[in-house]
Amino acid sequence: MIDTHSHLLDEVFKDDLDDCIKRCKDNNVNKIVLVGFERITNNKAQELSKKYDIFYPTAGIHPEEVKDISDLDYLEDFIKNNKVYAIGECGLDYHWTKETKELQKIIFEGQIKMSIKYNLPLIIHSRDAIEDTYNILEKYKGQLRGVMHCYSGSLEMAQRFLSLGLYIGLDGPVTFKNAKEPKRVAENIPLDRLLLETDCPWMTPSPYRGKRNESSYVVYVCEEIAKLRNMTYREIEEATDRNASSLFNI
Ligand code: NI
Repeated sequence: MIDTHSHLLDEVFKDDLDDCIKRCKDNNVNKIVLVGFERITNNKAQELSKKYDIFYPTAGIHPEEVKDISDLDYLEDFIKNNKVYAIGECGLDYHWTKETKELQKIIFEGQIKMSIKYNLPLIIHSRDAIEDTYNILEKYKGQLRGVMHCYSGSLEMAQRFLSLGLYIGLDGPVTFKNAKEPKRVAENIPLDRLLLETDCPWMTPSPYRGKRNESSYVVYVCEEIAKLRNMTYREIEEATDRNASSLFNI
């Protein structure tokens, strides 16, 4: 199984990363997309990927981390000089940082263009900004390859992103009892567009809700989606592995 969105590079794993990786292997989680989101974590993703072959590093500028237009020169330089499997995470986030809205849009669009230019998939973050995210992406319809990461919108909106050629990434919230809409999305989107993620250390699934999340817990996301779709765990695992391998070329 593949965790297509992990931040095992976070400080909270510094004392037991080896144990976390062992728990992945014990649960047959054999590949992890290790997601950077600004300068320090982009470097960290490279560093850890050289040390552990389970990791596939990305590089990006998260909307909460935008500084100025030079972010794009930095990132282009970085992806030319390092092996990355995706651009991102990138996108729009108006939840905490509305005041940088205009700069966020510029830095997001720049990363979309880079993903097309370098033929790398995009990992897209969108929080309280779903319409703007869609409108910017739509300009590049026909050229896009990527995933709506930690998707939390409606099924109808998911269908619009699917029509742009994007995948939908689902995480821990799909396992929560009261998560009606994520469950509806999990049940109804085409299986060949679904990806499993953890977004660890955040978004912890049941039965560990409230605790630190880690990549091995992606098995709970798989289990829940299998249940919702009336399929076997193995069928969801195989389908989502195929999707992840094809999108990220891993
Ligand atoms: Ni993330």
